[in-house]
Amino acid sequence: MTDTLLRGRLLTFHREPLGAEDTEAYSFIEDGAILMRDGLIAAQGAYPDLSESADGVPVTDHRPHLLIAGFIDPHIHFPQVQIVASWGRQLLDWLNGYTFPAEAEYCNAQHARAMAGRFCSLLTDHGTTTAVAFCSSHKTSAEALFAEASDRNMRMIAGKTMMDRNAPDNVLDTPQTSYDDSKALIAAWHGKGRASYAITPRFAITSSPEQLEMAGSLASEHPECYIQTHLSENHDEIAFTGELYPDARDYLDVYETYGLLGRRTLLGHAIHLTEREIGAIAQSGAHPVFCPTSNLFLGSGLFDDAGLRARGITSGIATDIGAGTSYSMLQTLNEGYKVLQLQDQSLHALRAFYWITRGNADVLGLTDKIGTLDAGTEADVVVLDSAATPAMALRMEKAHSLSEELFALQMMGDDRAIVQTYVAGVPRKGVEA
Ligand code: GUN
Ligand code: ZN
Repeated sequence: MTDTLLRGRLLTFHREPLGAEDTEAYSFIEDGAILMRDGLIAAQGAYPDLSESADGVPVTDHRPHLLIAGFIDPHIHFPQVQIVASWGRQLLDWLNGYTFPAEAEYCNAQHARAMAGRFCSLLTDHGTTTAVAFCSSHKTSAEALFAEASDRNMRMIAGKTMMDRNAPDNVLDTPQTSYDDSKALIAAWHGKGRASYAITPRFAITSSPEQLEMAGSLASEHPECYIQTHLSENHDEIAFTGELYPDARDYLDVYETYGLLGRRTLLGHAIHLTEREIGAIAQSGAHPVFCPTSNLFLGSGLFDDAGLRARGITSGIATDIGAGTSYSMLQTLNEGYKVLQLQDQSLHALRAFYWITRGNADVLGLTDKIGTLDAGTEADVVVLDSAATPAMALRMEKAHSLSEELFALQMMGDDRAIVQTYVAGVPRKGVEA
């Protein structure tokens, strides 16, 4: 039994804050503590109370920094680490010009493993302790990512991308090989340690009807797995999908037809939706994922957060590296705030920090394991410095409330604000791959 006591300003959410002043939605303890034991949170509360019962336990004193649950990134592409910030095009050209050539390299197991190390380190350096990742179409890429995350005891949800058309041969599989490889990966990894599998048809354009049928078979054979894909990110994408699936009522109907829509389905982007699609998403319990830095970078459009919420839909928020331009969930919130501002919607700081922790955990059905600092959950904890840069420190001199402090972190913070990231109780910030 290894115990560690973290001391700091503790913030954890019990539910989504209903407004900027909804103090019942969270606990904030100015002199708080977390007792970590064997990768789990054994207890949390006021430091004087915990220190009394944890006599002799080593204390890591992070005051005056904030202790908050590790961030969760529910949409990111592992094999795109080397094409972040590739210039100048919208979605389909960007995929053909940069993305597919980069992903082709992940047939090489050595390359995939080296990049998996870099990828996991980047995540934790930015405060992210759980990711939902697209791998390349090569089984090797998913094996490399799962193995790397497992070595770090990091919660990882990932899948080999299924894609059998409209891309170069070196990133294509076939309906049968995509089924066989996904099946083998599920058997090897789903539920092993902190790993979960996501069945991953890339998007309608790169999958034949035969392949989507295979994906649907996988989904019905493995209802415990997640499903991740892309939906209605870009107008040309939507038009091409309509040509490829002329009988579909709309883009979403392609996925519905093959049994790919349910509570465990994550729909990347979901920007340009029809009324029917919104109704079907609401009914199915599927989750759109808002990717603000990506949507701005590729000029894809503005995610209608308030519109979807009004229909009872629960969305995630994510980086979408490599069309997204930052690994930081704080920077993701920053751009997300601006995307909503452009639509006369708002993202106040309490909801923002709820969203990247408990909110994204809720989308994944994992609030019993991650996303809070509740006793019994996994000890994924981020230590945040609100005055990490000179500009932030200056701003903090005039911050008089928790909300103000969090909002400055949301708008100005990045990896420099991450003092430490504990993954299952182990400090991982700055640990080289
Ligand atoms: N649609 C299909 N594949 C991708 C991808 O890799 N990135 C983004 N942003 N959209 C996609
Ligand atoms: Zn994506």
